[in-house]
Amino acid sequence: MSEGLEEHIKSERRDFQNEALEEASMQENPMAQFKLWLAEAIDNKVQEPYAMCISTIGQDGFPSSRMVFFREMDDEGLIFYTNYKSRKGQELEQNSKAVVNFHWELMDRQVNMKGEVHKVSNEQSDAYFNSRPRESQIGAWASDQSQVLGDRTELEARIKALSERFEGKEVSRPEHWGGYVIRAKEWEFWQGRSSRLHDRIRYRKDEKGNWQKERLNP
Ligand SMILES: Cc1cc2nc3c(=O)[nH]c(=O)nc-3n(C[C@H](O)[C@H](O)[C@H](O)COP(=O)(O)O)c2cc1C
Repeated sequence: MSEGLEEHIKSERRDFQNEALEEASMQENPMAQFKLWLAEAIDNKVQEPYAMCISTIGQDGFPSSRMVFFREMDDEGLIFYTNYKSRKGQELEQNSKAVVNFHWELMDRQVNMKGEVHKVSNEQSDAYFNSRPRESQIGAWASDQSQVLGDRTELEARIKALSERFEGKEVSRPEHWGGYVIRAKEWEFWQGRSSRLHDRIRYRKDEKGNWQKERLNP
């Protein structure tokens, strides 16, 4: 579709017909609420519900965003794996604040979480790295993530050389590749409702460190 594209963008509207999101029926702990929604997203066959947009802050003051998959979770945060020397890695080195956003379109749901990001332990990164397919492990060595690449054949040549180097051996984790955990400071759960009167519930910690819920205007 190229004709009428602008008109289409302006006029395409879908009304969200979903059940109410009530503070009282939501979990006291936002991680428990997130797990509940994640399980519902999986049951409803949302494709790749683990895909999240993570925004970091560059030294020029501009935010930068990209999608990553979170691969593990603990009581306070979400864990993803990447190249520590990538753009995001360098930005997190300077400023550990980040925000992640999920959009589960099939359920008209959005989840937003902000927090401070820290590297996970080497043992945890090793354990996850060892569970990855061999091609991805070699890719972690081969890709100088976020740096300019003159030509794709350069990358292919590196992959070939590394495949030969590791032939018959286990691929060890490169030091520049590992996990980050984003420890939640604030969450927002968004449920699309009719006539754009959506439900939004935010969780923040009070002075005593207890999570408190509040409703936001749509
Ligand atoms: C759905 C999806 C999932 C992705 N998951 C990851 C991931 O888990 N880790 C990663 O390093 N890059 C992942 N990428 C690639 C990143 O979006 C990005 O291109 C890369 O990490 C370089 O980002 P940076 O230059 O901002 O550091 C994913 C891309 C998509 C579209």
